[in-house]
Amino acid sequence: MARKNLHDKRLAWIKTGVFFLALLPAIKLAIGACLDALGANPIEKITRTTGYWTLTLLWVSLTATPLRLLFKWNWPIRIRRMLGLFAFFYGSLHFLTYLILDQFFDWEAIAADIVKRPYITVGFPAFVLMIPLALTSTDRMIKRLGGKRWRWLHRLVYLSAIGGVVHYAWLVKKDLTNPLIFAVLLAVLFGIRILYRLIGATKPVFTPVKRKTSRTDKPTPKESRPV
Ligand code: HEM
Repeated sequence: MARKNLHDKRLAWIKTGVFFLALLPAIKLAIGACLDALGANPIEKITRTTGYWTLTLLWVSLTATPLRLLFKWNWPIRIRRMLGLFAFFYGSLHFLTYLILDQFFDWEAIAADIVKRPYITVGFPAFVLMIPLALTSTDRMIKRLGGKRWRWLHRLVYLSAIGGVVHYAWLVKKDLTNPLIFAVLLAVLFGIRILYRLIGATKPVFTPVKRKTSRTDKPTPKESRPV
């Protein structure tokens, strides 16, 4: 019991720390905007920062399952939902910056952008795909959909991630280093999942991981989530 409390306390600290860290870029942008300190082109600064953090947090959320497969760590799975929702939060800010500050609801110009600018053509579906994932992230929706269907739906995250990285590569024009780093990391994360699937070492959906696997990892039935 005392050990359970210790695990819960540690996880609560990790969750709180991750929450504030993930919020930091938005706070910095808000302060910069209030102090008029976002540089010569504030809209570009907001668009780029929110785009970058959408991608980064999506990637961090995708490390949870590989970390469990490789090291038997379960605590990342327990903060994965929060990370995914933060990715969606930044994705929404990114899209809203474009919609409101950049285009000011000029739907014709937006439609033209989707057709003419390839990076918007792929960025748009990449963002739209995040919406059903965010909407079905609650425990209630997981129960309602059932593990199998939920898991299938949430594989869309890979399509969204691929769309996001192609969008990034398409818009940077010259130096492809950063998009390439994201692409390689995505391939590694996906590769680990595939490898474990091929060797049949993935755990069944919704099976709570046994307590003895690690000191820090002890999901309650409520928190044992599909992987
Ligand atoms: C409706 C959807 C989207 C629109 C309209 C959009 C639009 C834009 C625009 C206008 C830029 C700035 C381009 C420039 O400064 O030349 C940008 C940058 C970026 N976007 Fe998006 N985007 C969308 C979705 C996404 C999604 C879903 C992701 C990630 C998963 C993403 C990640 C990025 C990144 C990483 C950057 C570059 C950041 C940097 O320069 O460091 N975008 N986007």
